[in-house]
Amino acid sequence: MQILVFPERKSLSLHAAKMFAAQIEAVPESVLGLATGSTPLGLYQELALQHREGLNLSGVTTFNLDEYVGIDPDHEASFNQFMKTNLFQHVNIPAAQTDIPRGHAGDLAAECSRYEQAIRNAGGIDLQLLGIGHNGHIGFNEPNTPFETVTHVVTLAAKTRVANARYFGAEPSQVPEKAISAGIKTIMQAKKIILLAAGEDKAETVAAAVEGPVTTSLPASVLQLHPQVWFLLDTDAAGKLSSNNPDLLRA
Ligand code: GLP
Repeated sequence: MQILVFPERKSLSLHAAKMFAAQIEAVPESVLGLATGSTPLGLYQELALQHREGLNLSGVTTFNLDEYVGIDPDHEASFNQFMKTNLFQHVNIPAAQTDIPRGHAGDLAAECSRYEQAIRNAGGIDLQLLGIGHNGHIGFNEPNTPFETVTHVVTLAAKTRVANARYFGAEPSQVPEKAISAGIKTIMQAKKIILLAAGEDKAETVAAAVEGPVTTSLPASVLQLHPQVWFLLDTDAAGKLSSNNPDLLRA
Protein backbone atom coordinates (compact mmCIF):
# COMPACT_ATOMS: atom_id res chain seq x y z
CA MET A 1 0.00 0.00 0.00
CA GLN A 2 1.17 3.52 -0.76
CA ILE A 3 -0.38 6.52 0.96
CA LEU A 4 0.20 9.86 -0.74
CA VAL A 5 -0.88 12.99 1.10
CA PHE A 6 -1.53 16.24 -0.80
CA PRO A 7 -1.92 19.76 0.59
CA GLU A 8 -5.35 20.18 -1.02
CA ARG A 9 -7.97 18.51 -3.21
CA LYS A 10 -6.68 20.13 -6.40
CA SER A 11 -3.22 18.55 -6.24
CA LEU A 12 -4.78 15.22 -5.22
CA SER A 13 -7.04 15.31 -8.30
CA LEU A 14 -4.12 16.29 -10.55
CA HIS A 15 -2.05 13.39 -9.30
CA ALA A 16 -4.92 10.92 -9.73
CA ALA A 17 -5.47 12.21 -13.30
CA LYS A 18 -1.76 11.73 -14.04
CA MET A 19 -1.98 8.13 -12.86
CA PHE A 20 -5.06 7.48 -15.03
CA ALA A 21 -3.52 9.20 -18.05
CA ALA A 22 -0.30 7.18 -17.62
CA GLN A 23 -2.37 3.97 -17.54
CA ILE A 24 -4.27 4.95 -20.71
CA GLU A 25 -1.11 6.02 -22.54
CA ALA A 26 0.69 2.80 -21.62
CA VAL A 27 -2.31 0.58 -22.47
CA PRO A 28 -4.82 2.40 -24.73
CA GLU A 29 -7.29 -0.51 -24.38
CA SER A 30 -7.27 -0.25 -20.59
CA VAL A 31 -10.30 -1.41 -18.63
CA LEU A 32 -11.08 1.20 -15.98
CA GLY A 33 -13.28 0.84 -12.92
CA LEU A 34 -15.00 4.15 -12.19
CA ALA A 35 -16.68 5.65 -9.15
CA THR A 36 -19.22 8.35 -8.38
CA GLY A 37 -19.49 10.74 -5.46
CA SER A 38 -18.05 14.22 -5.00
CA THR A 39 -14.45 13.10 -4.43
CA PRO A 40 -13.61 12.04 -8.02
CA LEU A 41 -15.09 15.18 -9.63
CA GLY A 42 -11.74 17.00 -9.79
CA LEU A 43 -10.12 13.95 -11.37
CA TYR A 44 -12.86 13.76 -14.04
CA GLN A 45 -12.50 17.49 -14.79
CA GLU A 46 -8.77 17.05 -15.18
CA LEU A 47 -9.18 14.03 -17.47
CA ALA A 48 -11.59 16.06 -19.63
CA LEU A 49 -8.97 18.81 -19.82
CA GLN A 50 -6.25 16.34 -20.74
CA HIS A 51 -8.53 14.93 -23.42
CA ARG A 52 -8.95 18.42 -24.92
CA GLU A 53 -5.16 18.62 -24.93
CA GLY A 54 -4.81 15.31 -26.80
CA LEU A 55 -5.35 12.37 -24.43
CA ASN A 56 -7.11 9.70 -26.50
CA LEU A 57 -9.57 7.54 -24.58
CA SER A 58 -11.19 5.85 -27.58
CA GLY A 59 -9.77 2.43 -26.72
CA VAL A 60 -10.80 2.51 -23.06
CA THR A 61 -13.57 0.37 -21.59
CA THR A 62 -15.20 1.42 -18.32
CA PHE A 63 -17.25 -0.27 -15.63
CA ASN A 64 -18.87 1.72 -12.86
CA LEU A 65 -19.01 0.43 -9.34
CA ASP A 66 -22.69 0.82 -8.70
CA GLU A 67 -26.15 2.12 -9.51
CA TYR A 68 -29.37 2.58 -7.56
CA VAL A 69 -32.11 0.00 -7.99
CA GLY A 70 -35.44 1.13 -9.41
CA ILE A 71 -34.51 4.45 -10.93
CA ASP A 72 -34.38 5.17 -14.61
CA PRO A 73 -30.91 5.68 -16.15
CA ASP A 74 -32.09 9.16 -17.18
CA HIS A 75 -33.03 10.11 -13.59
CA GLU A 76 -30.96 13.14 -12.66
CA ALA A 77 -29.62 11.43 -9.51
CA SER A 78 -28.73 8.16 -11.25
CA PHE A 79 -25.05 7.30 -11.47
CA ASN A 80 -25.63 6.84 -15.19
CA GLN A 81 -26.50 10.50 -15.46
CA PHE A 82 -23.66 11.46 -13.11
CA MET A 83 -21.12 9.77 -15.37
CA LYS A 84 -22.51 11.37 -18.53
CA THR A 85 -22.52 14.83 -17.02
CA ASN A 86 -19.20 14.65 -15.27
CA LEU A 87 -17.07 12.55 -17.60
CA PHE A 88 -18.51 10.77 -20.61
CA GLN A 89 -19.81 13.92 -22.35
CA HIS A 90 -16.33 15.43 -22.15
CA VAL A 91 -14.13 12.59 -23.42
CA ASN A 92 -14.11 10.22 -26.39
CA ILE A 93 -14.93 6.85 -24.81
CA PRO A 94 -17.48 5.23 -27.17
CA ALA A 95 -20.80 4.73 -25.32
CA ALA A 96 -20.73 1.01 -26.19
CA GLN A 97 -17.52 0.73 -24.14
CA THR A 98 -19.09 2.12 -20.97
CA ASP A 99 -21.05 -0.16 -18.67
CA ILE A 100 -22.97 0.66 -15.50
CA PRO A 101 -25.15 -1.80 -13.58
CA ARG A 102 -28.73 -1.59 -14.84
CA GLY A 103 -30.61 -0.74 -11.69
CA HIS A 104 -33.86 -0.65 -13.64
CA ALA A 105 -33.48 -4.27 -14.86
CA GLY A 106 -36.50 -6.52 -14.30
CA ASP A 107 -34.37 -9.45 -13.17
CA LEU A 108 -31.77 -8.01 -10.82
CA ALA A 109 -30.03 -11.34 -10.13
CA ALA A 110 -29.55 -11.87 -13.88
CA GLU A 111 -28.25 -8.31 -14.20
CA CYS A 112 -25.68 -8.92 -11.44
CA SER A 113 -24.45 -12.04 -13.26
CA ARG A 114 -24.36 -10.19 -16.59
CA TYR A 115 -22.30 -7.39 -15.05
CA GLU A 116 -19.78 -9.64 -13.36
CA GLN A 117 -19.40 -11.65 -16.57
CA ALA A 118 -19.01 -8.49 -18.67
CA ILE A 119 -16.07 -7.46 -16.49
CA ARG A 120 -14.49 -10.91 -16.90
CA ASN A 121 -15.13 -10.86 -20.68
CA ALA A 122 -13.36 -7.52 -20.93
CA GLY A 123 -10.31 -9.13 -19.32
CA GLY A 124 -10.82 -7.76 -15.81
CA ILE A 125 -10.24 -4.26 -14.49
CA ASP A 126 -6.75 -2.80 -14.95
CA LEU A 127 -7.21 0.27 -12.76
CA GLN A 128 -10.03 0.68 -10.26
CA LEU A 129 -10.99 4.04 -8.79
CA LEU A 130 -12.63 4.12 -5.36
CA GLY A 131 -14.01 6.66 -2.95
CA ILE A 132 -14.87 5.75 0.62
CA GLY A 133 -18.11 6.13 2.56
CA HIS A 134 -18.15 7.39 6.15
CA ASN A 135 -18.86 3.84 7.31
CA GLY A 136 -15.94 2.51 5.26
CA HIS A 137 -18.01 1.29 2.34
CA ILE A 138 -16.39 0.86 -1.05
CA GLY A 139 -18.72 0.90 -4.03
CA PHE A 140 -21.94 0.30 -2.12
CA ASN A 141 -20.53 -2.62 -0.12
CA GLU A 142 -21.79 -1.74 3.33
CA PRO A 143 -20.27 -3.00 6.61
CA ASN A 144 -20.45 -6.78 7.11
CA THR A 145 -20.47 -7.60 3.38
CA PRO A 146 -18.45 -10.83 3.01
CA PHE A 147 -15.13 -10.32 1.23
CA GLU A 148 -16.04 -13.07 -1.28
CA THR A 149 -19.03 -11.14 -2.64
CA VAL A 150 -19.21 -10.45 -6.38
CA THR A 151 -21.68 -8.05 -8.07
CA HIS A 152 -24.83 -8.10 -5.94
CA VAL A 153 -27.93 -6.26 -4.81
CA VAL A 154 -27.30 -4.32 -1.61
CA THR A 155 -29.57 -2.67 0.94
CA LEU A 156 -28.18 0.78 1.62
CA ALA A 157 -27.27 1.67 5.21
CA ALA A 158 -29.30 4.49 6.77
CA LYS A 159 -26.08 6.55 6.99
CA THR A 160 -25.48 6.10 3.25
CA ARG A 161 -29.00 7.23 2.38
CA VAL A 162 -28.51 10.34 4.54
CA ALA A 163 -25.12 11.05 2.89
CA ASN A 164 -26.63 10.72 -0.59
CA ALA A 165 -29.84 12.65 0.16
CA ARG A 166 -28.15 15.75 -1.31
CA TYR A 167 -28.76 14.25 -4.77
CA PHE A 168 -32.45 13.57 -3.99
CA GLY A 169 -33.76 16.96 -2.87
CA ALA A 170 -32.07 16.59 0.54
CA GLU A 171 -34.63 13.97 1.55
CA PRO A 172 -33.16 10.60 2.73
CA SER A 173 -36.52 8.86 2.21
CA GLN A 174 -36.26 9.69 -1.52
CA VAL A 175 -32.94 7.82 -1.82
CA PRO A 176 -33.57 4.32 -3.18
CA GLU A 177 -33.31 1.60 -0.54
CA LYS A 178 -31.29 -0.71 -2.74
CA ALA A 179 -28.50 -0.61 -5.26
CA ILE A 180 -26.48 -2.96 -7.42
CA SER A 181 -22.80 -2.88 -6.52
CA ALA A 182 -19.68 -4.58 -7.78
CA GLY A 183 -18.70 -6.85 -4.89
CA ILE A 184 -15.64 -6.72 -2.69
CA LYS A 185 -14.14 -9.65 -4.58
CA THR A 186 -14.88 -7.89 -7.89
CA ILE A 187 -13.00 -4.83 -6.61
CA MET A 188 -10.12 -6.85 -5.17
CA GLN A 189 -9.61 -8.60 -8.53
CA ALA A 190 -8.64 -5.28 -10.16
CA LYS A 191 -4.94 -5.22 -11.00
CA LYS A 192 -4.41 -1.77 -9.47
CA ILE A 193 -6.60 0.31 -7.16
CA ILE A 194 -6.58 4.02 -6.37
CA LEU A 195 -8.72 5.22 -3.47
CA LEU A 196 -9.36 8.95 -3.15
CA ALA A 197 -10.45 10.61 0.08
CA ALA A 198 -10.67 14.27 0.99
CA GLY A 199 -11.97 16.18 3.98
CA GLU A 200 -11.79 15.94 7.74
CA ASP A 201 -15.05 13.97 7.86
CA LYS A 202 -13.25 11.01 6.24
CA ALA A 203 -10.16 11.09 8.52
CA GLU A 204 -11.33 8.59 11.12
CA THR A 205 -12.60 6.12 8.50
CA VAL A 206 -9.38 6.38 6.48
CA ALA A 207 -7.20 5.77 9.56
CA ALA A 208 -9.28 2.73 10.51
CA ALA A 209 -9.15 1.39 6.94
CA VAL A 210 -5.39 1.76 6.68
CA GLU A 211 -4.13 1.15 10.21
CA GLY A 212 -6.91 -0.85 11.85
CA PRO A 213 -7.64 -4.56 11.59
CA VAL A 214 -8.80 -6.07 8.30
CA THR A 215 -12.46 -6.64 9.04
CA THR A 216 -15.76 -6.89 7.19
CA SER A 217 -17.13 -4.33 9.63
CA LEU A 218 -15.01 -1.75 7.75
CA PRO A 219 -15.07 -2.86 4.09
CA ALA A 220 -12.22 -0.59 2.90
CA SER A 221 -9.83 -2.34 5.33
CA VAL A 222 -9.75 -5.27 2.86
CA LEU A 223 -7.56 -3.09 0.63
CA GLN A 224 -4.66 -3.77 3.01
CA LEU A 225 -4.59 -7.23 1.39
CA HIS A 226 -4.29 -5.90 -2.19
CA PRO A 227 -0.79 -5.94 -3.73
CA GLN A 228 -1.10 -2.66 -5.70
CA VAL A 229 -3.17 -0.04 -3.95
CA TRP A 230 -2.68 3.70 -3.58
CA PHE A 231 -4.55 5.89 -1.10
CA LEU A 232 -4.49 9.49 -2.34
CA LEU A 233 -5.54 11.78 0.51
CA ASP A 234 -5.69 15.45 1.24
CA THR A 235 -4.16 16.65 4.51
CA ASP A 236 -7.56 16.68 6.22
CA ALA A 237 -8.44 13.09 5.30
CA ALA A 238 -4.95 12.02 6.43
CA GLY A 239 -5.36 13.87 9.73
CA LYS A 240 -5.85 10.80 11.91
CA LEU A 241 -3.08 8.60 10.46
CA SER A 242 -0.18 7.92 12.79
CA SER A 243 2.78 10.10 11.83
CA ASN A 244 5.15 7.11 11.75
CA ASN A 245 3.08 5.10 9.27
CA PRO A 246 5.81 3.58 7.04
CA ASP A 247 3.59 3.70 3.91
CA LEU A 248 2.96 7.43 4.18
CA LEU A 249 4.52 9.93 1.75
CA ARG A 250 3.76 13.64 1.75
CA ALA A 251 3.63 15.18 -1.73
C1 GLP B 1 -21.35 6.74 -2.68
C2 GLP B 1 -20.70 5.85 -3.73
C3 GLP B 1 -19.29 5.46 -3.31
C4 GLP B 1 -18.52 6.71 -2.90
C5 GLP B 1 -19.20 7.35 -1.71
C6 GLP B 1 -18.46 8.57 -1.18
O1 GLP B 1 -21.85 6.05 -1.60
N1 GLP B 1 -21.43 4.64 -3.98
O2 GLP B 1 -18.65 4.81 -4.40
O3 GLP B 1 -17.21 6.37 -2.58
O4 GLP B 1 -20.48 7.74 -2.16
O5 GLP B 1 -18.90 9.74 -1.80
P1 GLP B 1 -18.22 11.14 -1.65
O6 GLP B 1 -17.00 11.10 -2.51
O7 GLP B 1 -19.23 12.11 -2.19
O8 GLP B 1 -17.91 11.35 -0.22
